[in-house]
Amino acid sequence: MHIQDILVKYEATPDKLLNILHDIQNQSEQSYISESDISALAKYLNTTKAAIYGVVEYYSMFSAQPRGKYVIRVCKSPICRMLGGQDMLNFIQSALNIPTNETDAEKLFTLEVSECLGHCDKAPVMMVNDELHVNLTPEKIDSILSQYRQNKTKKL
Ligand code: FES
Repeated sequence: MHIQDILVKYEATPDKLLNILHDIQNQSEQSYISESDISALAKYLNTTKAAIYGVVEYYSMFSAQPRGKYVIRVCKSPICRMLGGQDMLNFIQSALNIPTNETDAEKLFTLEVSECLGHCDKAPVMMVNDELHVNLTPEKIDSILSQYRQNKTKKL
């Protein structure tokens, strides 16, 4: 979707900034907010590119760098860690053959860690784009990754 098609859906007011950034990133095949998107958005909201970059860099869910089609965010907060979150992160790193904060060779998955995702009662937890996955086990992760691989031509 073109940036202007996204912007016309929102009033040009500062309180819409986070919603617009989410929308831009969700529409991006590489799950990021490009420099040209930031320029267009700054113009639309009558602010500076630096102000928009400041917001993109402040929130860990946003990225100004191209990423994989699916961004995996594994919770690294204490409850998930106590219940096996680090083991799940290690398992994903070896399944994708990438360290944290990297994208696989196919540009399908980017692996990141996150603060508490708000579902501690179902730890360990991860998100893939906007989709929550709970009570993770290696078997469950294998099945989740293969579902995303099979759907790689369309956004889940
Ligand atoms: S500690 Fe992981 S979801 Fe809260």
